[in-house]
Amino acid sequence: MATNTTTWGSRIGFILAGAGSAIGLGSIWKFPFWAGINGGSGFIIPYIVFTFTIGITLLIAELVVGRAGRGSAMHALKSLGGPFFAVFGAIAVITSFVILSYYSVVGGWCVKYLFDSLCGELVTSDAQALQSAFGSLVADGAANSMWHIGFLTLTCGVVALGVVNGIERLSKYLLPTLFILMIAIMIRSLSLPGAWEGVKFLFDFSFDKLSWMGVLNAMGFTFFSLSLGCGIMVTYGAYLKDTTDIPNSSLWIAYLAIQTALLAGLMIMPAVFAMGQDPNAGPGLVFVTIPYIFSQIPFGWFFMILFNVCLLVAALTSSVSLLEVCIAYLQNEWHMGRGAACGLCYAGLAALGCISALSFGVLGDVKIFGRIIFDFLDWFCSNIMMPVGGLSIALLAGWKAWESTQAQVNLVHRYSAAANSFIRFSLRFLAPLLVLVVIATGI
Ligand code: PHE
Repeated sequence: MATNTTTWGSRIGFILAGAGSAIGLGSIWKFPFWAGINGGSGFIIPYIVFTFTIGITLLIAELVVGRAGRGSAMHALKSLGGPFFAVFGAIAVITSFVILSYYSVVGGWCVKYLFDSLCGELVTSDAQALQSAFGSLVADGAANSMWHIGFLTLTCGVVALGVVNGIERLSKYLLPTLFILMIAIMIRSLSLPGAWEGVKFLFDFSFDKLSWMGVLNAMGFTFFSLSLGCGIMVTYGAYLKDTTDIPNSSLWIAYLAIQTALLAGLMIMPAVFAMGQDPNAGPGLVFVTIPYIFSQIPFGWFFMILFNVCLLVAALTSSVSLLEVCIAYLQNEWHMGRGAACGLCYAGLAALGCISALSFGVLGDVKIFGRIIFDFLDWFCSNIMMPVGGLSIALLAGWKAWESTQAQVNLVHRYSAAANSFIRFSLRFLAPLLVLVVIATGI
């Protein structure tokens, strides 16, 4: 079992790669409609609170375990925690693989929508036509599979180039671009008459907006949005130099993730309200409502292209992180070269993803616990596998390997006793407790 010797090219490169993993379809596609369904600020405020408490400590824990264990998720968990924790390392690798298989189906929709917006095909004032275009894309197994494989090809191509030349470079150029594009779209959206209602919907906070369900959903979303519990940050942590300050970098990653989710909310909701659309439109919000809105406003076609670029960039910087978990594992445990590992994953993911892609059409009758395959995999990974992964990291970093956690946390900068106690308390008690609540409600 070889430990790896690759390191990130620069600290900022690592922060952008970590933030790139966190910022994804979750922030741009899921966040606005979840905020919509869960009553706006009643979801957003708990999400921010969770991110800066358990979210950040679990993020620190994953990076710490990665750097101390220097290897794939499985290798790192095994070397710090022994064979028992190695099992959770293996589970994390499988979770990443499965998430990527269906994430790439949604990534395929993004490629298709970018393509269509470049061809000017999404500009129409017929909302029904947009609805049925999305419906028929999703139901058409062949098209769905083809776009999924297209997106997967992009992902594998980037990862095959390596950690520094592929993943880090992609994030370094595309993430700043993403922020600029999002700000441009937000300004356009906020300049529409009636846009303020959307801002109020997101940020007007009152206690009666808080619901138990909103809070629980916010907790689950914190996991998904910070890419926790599936070995990504462990894998990325293994590429960290000893001179990188982990708590400080984690704060940056969490901050960028939140900022992007809020930007996404601010680019979508004001436009939704200004155009009298339904904020609870669910998954169709960005694929149906947004094209409809952009079709109605001057220069909308241009902003539609920018919007679809944003979606694709966000999806890609996350999908490469999921793939890297599997590649690091194959390199570490099976001594495969990067190219061969990418080829093997490509074949497996293409096949598994097609099953998810077909589950909206011909495989629609196959139900697991009452859900189609795509929904089942998403539910199972987000509500069970990722929380289980998070729990194992909290127990490992907070109890079993606390000495090493503490040494890693304070390696570059000595943090105060209060900060250290907070991290320990959160990892030992708070995070496990909240994770158990997520799992219990998920079931
Ligand atoms: N954090 C990503 C997003 O918000 C999703 C993701 C989850 C990516 C798990 C990797 C792993 O879209």
